[in-house]
Amino acid sequence: MCGIVGYVGRREAMPVLTEGLRRLEYRGYDSAGIAVHRAGKLAVYKACGKVREVIGTLPKRIRSQTGIGHTRWATHGVPNDINAHPHCDNSQRIAVVHNGIIENASTLREQLLTQGVEIVSDTDSELLAHLIARVDAERLDDAVRTVLRSITGTYGIAVIDTAHPDEIVAARNGSPVILGIGDGESFVASDSAALVRYTQKVVYLEDGEVARLTASGYEVSTLDAAPIARAPAAIEVSDGSYDKAEHAHFMVKEIHEQPECIRRTLRGRLDKRFHSARLDGLNISAKELLSFKRIKVIGCGSAYIAGLLGAKLIERLARLPVDAEVAAEFRYRNPIIEHDTLYLAVSQSGETLDTLIAIDEIQRKGGTVRGIVNVVGSTIARKCAGGIYLHAGPEIAVVSTKTFVSTLIAFTLLALFLGRMRDLSPGEGRRLIEALESLPDLVDDLLIHEADYRRLAAKYAHYDHAYFIGRNYGYALAMEGALKLKEVSYIHAEAYPASELKHGPIALITESTPTVVLVPDDDLVERNLASIAEIKARQGPVLAITQSRAQCNGTMVDDEVAVPVTHELLSPIAMLIPLQFLAYFAALERNCDVDQPRNLAKSVTVE
Ligand code: F6R
Repeated sequence: MCGIVGYVGRREAMPVLTEGLRRLEYRGYDSAGIAVHRAGKLAVYKACGKVREVIGTLPKRIRSQTGIGHTRWATHGVPNDINAHPHCDNSQRIAVVHNGIIENASTLREQLLTQGVEIVSDTDSELLAHLIARVDAERLDDAVRTVLRSITGTYGIAVIDTAHPDEIVAARNGSPVILGIGDGESFVASDSAALVRYTQKVVYLEDGEVARLTASGYEVSTLDAAPIARAPAAIEVSDGSYDKAEHAHFMVKEIHEQPECIRRTLRGRLDKRFHSARLDGLNISAKELLSFKRIKVIGCGSAYIAGLLGAKLIERLARLPVDAEVAAEFRYRNPIIEHDTLYLAVSQSGETLDTLIAIDEIQRKGGTVRGIVNVVGSTIARKCAGGIYLHAGPEIAVVSTKTFVSTLIAFTLLALFLGRMRDLSPGEGRRLIEALESLPDLVDDLLIHEADYRRLAAKYAHYDHAYFIGRNYGYALAMEGALKLKEVSYIHAEAYPASELKHGPIALITESTPTVVLVPDDDLVERNLASIAEIKARQGPVLAITQSRAQCNGTMVDDEVAVPVTHELLSPIAMLIPLQFLAYFAALERNCDVDQPRNLAKSVTVE
């Protein structure tokens, strides 16, 4: 989704900004642009398309020490050169980049038009530049504050002004803004990816805060100009996490990182003495945890699907009722918030607005919510006052792979912890810990078969539709398999509980609609084999993902991938690996942009 980068300091701004834009590309975007000060004027370069296309239009050398850049993911107005950011006022004094949505844009637009302002784009963001330019204030931050007080909606912004060439003003409300603090230089970005190459010292702006950045430092204040003391924090991310290394795409790199991600999520959290887990970050006393009668998980997309699997894990080990719901659906139905329910918000980015608003709803009604989050210091992580960090490292591909696995590990740890507080036996705890410890090696063994998955993907990639079916854990996994396939290969894929097939979808089973059937080695093997027979009776091609003891010998599957048997609760992770590769290689077969699929964004910061 939209990305912001800004620089003021001792270096040439342009290379910092272009590098920042490249680092923001993974978030998904449709246009990009840069504005810098040059000889007392603004120089603005922007275009629809890829960052490299904007960079291609830049003059050879632009001497400037201050500038802002943006990657846009269209909300108001189609993707085109004019709607790309930065936006300027009519006198070309102010340039603005903006993430978020201004809700009172149409009223503001009318007001500006009646005042004779020429508005050139269809965006809500351009209005900010005109409004700021029209405030009569000595200081740029005062002008920005005045305008922001008249705005409703969400924003993360960075503003430059030819009257104040040595500063950037940034502000935040509902859309992340991070300040990067260097030596004789300052940065601003919506994502630490654009900063880590230059500094690891950051300041997170909170909603309703404004920052003034110069080469020598930063000031943070409220919208009413009350100063706020905010010391920088350190970010742990290394610059190398943003390189593909020897891999063709970030998606496949991140699939290969999964054994290490599992180790990182587990690190320091296995309590072998009590056959339990250590989750101090939850920040909830044992007494309080025991008082919860149920758990509710919220999230979006793959985070929600991981929540569905997590709910099953906790229910199984802790015998607590748990359910998962899509965050936006949860908050739109005016949910009943109960004090004996623990709410868990799941998010890789920690910035997904639908999840964030659902958390606000829970907290406003006095509920207890904790986060399962990957990005350290993200808005959701800070809002939840505790939770489980995944420590999976930055996920750059738009589709989630390694953080899905790390989320399942986090849920397994939580299920173990809650189970051992209740009536899970030490023996069961020990068996799960042993299985968790050997899981990275098991996943490593699955990764070796990449070439086999590639052959299978080539066989199935020409179909336009596919079903994914399973039961219990297998159904949730089917949802993730179908989501991955449609996101990256654009094959229409739908997931169903296997038992539902006969209640409707079977009408669409023909020789041109393959079904991926998930057959874990559980009590439902026979039922799953019966579903396969029903599909085959209608000439539907079947690709079965099985576990070595649940092979489909005797039933007529077209193809079978057998993964090793592991602890029942970890089998979804083993069975996920072929599904991830299937999606990846199908996308390659169909020449799709794997890391930045059409229309998708990494961090969805709009409703
Ligand atoms: C799927 C995917 C999305 C995200 C969803 C939530 O591959 O990446 O469905 O899972 O947008 O994002 P986070 O986890 O950042 O809240």
